Amino acid sequence: MDTKVLKVSDEGNFTAKEKKYLEEAAEILKNGGLVAFPTETVYGLGANALDEKAARKIYEAKGRPSDNPLIAHVADFEGLRPLVSRIPENGIKLAKAFWPGPMTLIFPKSDLVPLGTTGGLDTVAVRMPSDPVARELIRLAGVPVAAPSANTSGRPSPTRAEHVFQDMNGRIEMILDGGPVGIGVESTIVDVTEEIPVMLRPGAVTMEMLHEAVGEVRIDPAILGPVSPGLKPKAPGMKYRHYAPNADLTLVEGEEEKVVCEIKRLAAEKLKEGYKVGIICTDETRECYGGGLVRSIGERAKEETVAHNLYALLREFDDLGAQYIYSEGFPEDHLGQAIMNRLSKAAGYRIQKV
Ligand code: TXA
Ligand code: MG
Repeated sequence: MDTKVLKVSDEGNFTAKEKKYLEEAAEILKNGGLVAFPTETVYGLGANALDEKAARKIYEAKGRPSDNPLIAHVADFEGLRPLVSRIPENGIKLAKAFWPGPMTLIFPKSDLVPLGTTGGLDTVAVRMPSDPVARELIRLAGVPVAAPSANTSGRPSPTRAEHVFQDMNGRIEMILDGGPVGIGVESTIVDVTEEIPVMLRPGAVTMEMLHEAVGEVRIDPAILGPVSPGLKPKAPGMKYRHYAPNADLTLVEGEEEKVVCEIKRLAAEKLKEGYKVGIICTDETRECYGGGLVRSIGERAKEETVAHNLYALLREFDDLGAQYIYSEGFPEDHLGQAIMNRLSKAAGYRIQKV
């Protein structure tokens, strides 16, 4: 299969040519095919969420286990109603506060949504993205669009069309290239089927923001550390070793000076043994490091820059053939919770405190 890559500017004012591209993409979705498209979080791999056969193609293209459910993306509130059997009070509050935007809500599903989309669960994940390309594509398709991140299962999520191309060329009909995404980590997932909402995955809608909107919010243990064999995370996707670079990644946490010292020591050790070593630093500490492949992940003082660059940097280290990577850690409040969740998982929870 030839994968078409079409550029569509992400500003929202589409030219006649871009409109034609979007219509072509929507047509593919309507006919049961796959289209990758930008969202404000990461690139998604879209299919008609109501078409079980189309959903199956997503699992095949990604090499994803089929018990891992998909998020249905909608363009507006009218799109939500038919997918759910009930909209709990907290769901309304959160949707009003954060949609369109980087938040996914888990609802009890309606009969319309096939089990092939929800991995056999009787709940459905729904998100209303804010990205203009995503919204227009969903609107033109006229159906909810099931879309996991558009990476091969186990690889870092794609934040640029080129990343999607690396993983999906020849496996899907089309990639809409809207340039680099804004946020860079996947949406916050909140289960609102229970009395007290439960955060299943941290993202750019932070715990602090959720608290402000609905008060008490619990946190699924799968977010906090490795999932023990007996424990079943509520978001099935959280049990897989996700976001993994090819290299062995270790996080070093603690006081800045000590962290820099320890990373330099660890890197020097592996360099001496002849390995290719990557170092993930920040703009603030860039000058402290010498040997190895030293890359800044962003400005420590602006955590949104860190989230933005995270996955692209992990992919860059793969391309460079890094065998060991040492990364500075980050505070776990606000967006830092999402950053540390993704980095810890990429590190297989190898975290060194100094
Ligand atoms: O930002 C995002 O959410 C991106 C963009 C494309 O929208 N999508 C994304 O999808 O990250 P994916 O498939 O990579 O991650 C979806 C996560 C998985 O961990 C999955 O297990 C969980 O959502 N999930 C989906 N449906 C669920 C359900 N009914 N109950 C619990 N967890 C669910
Ligand atoms: Mg994913």
